[in-house]
Amino acid sequence: MSTFRALVLHEEGGRVVPRLESVDEARLPAGDVTVAVEYSALNYKDGMILEGQGRLVRQYPHVPGIDFAGTVERSDSPEFKPGDPVFLTGWRVGEVRWGGYAEKARVPAAFLVRRPAGLSARQAMAIGTAGLTAMLAVIALERHGLTPAGGAVANEVLVTGAAGGVGSIAVALLSALGYRVVAATGRPELREYLTGLGAAELLERAALAEKPTRPLDRERWAGAVDAVGGNTLATVLTQLRYRASVAACGLAGGSDLPASVIPFLLRGINLLGIDSVMCPKAERIAAWSRLARDLPLGQLEQISQLVPLAEVPQLAPRILKGEVRGRIIVNVAG
Ligand SMILES: NC(=O)c1ccc[n+]([C@@H]2O[C@H](COP(=O)([O-])OP(=O)(O)OC[C@H]3O[C@@H](n4cnc5c(N)ncnc54)[C@H](OP(=O)(O)O)[C@@H]3O)[C@@H](O)[C@H]2O)c1
Repeated sequence: MSTFRALVLHEEGGRVVPRLESVDEARLPAGDVTVAVEYSALNYKDGMILEGQGRLVRQYPHVPGIDFAGTVERSDSPEFKPGDPVFLTGWRVGEVRWGGYAEKARVPAAFLVRRPAGLSARQAMAIGTAGLTAMLAVIALERHGLTPAGGAVANEVLVTGAAGGVGSIAVALLSALGYRVVAATGRPELREYLTGLGAAELLERAALAEKPTRPLDRERWAGAVDAVGGNTLATVLTQLRYRASVAACGLAGGSDLPASVIPFLLRGINLLGIDSVMCPKAERIAAWSRLARDLPLGQLEQISQLVPLAEVPQLAPRILKGEVRGRIIVNVAG
């Protein structure tokens, strides 16, 4: 009988309890590809799952981990063969089926992306769901007319929740693409980190956090990537330049949207929804090749830190409180 090590969540007395366990391979879910997992990651949603929030997991015992990277061990699909380097983000893996906080994962071949040469498993997880989301946001802004035009003030792009996972990758990407990036953060002590990623200016999170009192404010942003939602997103809508767009990615500051339709009607602005979870495979592959081309991979060293699987449960409340900087890579074998 073959076993593998996994972080397993149990529901006990109404609480979600994590335990590192040895799991029989026969318990892996159905799927045509079995992957030997090397690295996973900690995303905001992993934090919610580990803390039992949002009723994202309906069946326990459960193996969380919405991202993983590794090597194909067994494949019943013609698309992959043993030894192929692969990774996975989203598709509700780690939520409605077992995920990447385990030495083995079994999934449908359609969920896997072949890892491009030049991108290590560790780098793929330093990017992960958060980085894919940032890239999808940038692509959506570009489709709606955003261009760098030499990083002039007229092309200032705002990133909210800038020191988090989505935010850090968005700052690095947009700056590498030539935009003047303004990083909104509640952690001014991370100035050096954010300017190191290419932010030209920091904006206090509080400056965007109040419910807007008027429908139109001074036009400032040529585009925005918003990981925060709530009053912050509502405020951004009032400050977008004529015909500019904001890509709404997250809800770290709230899921409501106390906004007015006036900026849509008088400034022709766009509110672009970003979903990385069920995003079609062709669009993901295109986004990953953009990431491999446009994200300075060297910056992933600054953005990410590696932690052993055993440390993940204690980091979960911290990511939900906005205390994690950049990306956490999980060393599944560690
Ligand atoms: N749409 C999708 O497909 C998709 C994919 C991935 C993530 N998301 C969502 O995007 C958001 C960010 O995910 P992540 O993995 O980057 O999480 P994260 O690393 O925790 O980043 C969130 C950042 O938001 C800021 N923040 C936290 N609490 C806040 C509050 N109460 N008010 C204002 N700002 C706050 C913090 O940045 P500062 O310290 O710099 O202020 C924090 O680092 C989450 O809501 C997540 O669910 C969506």
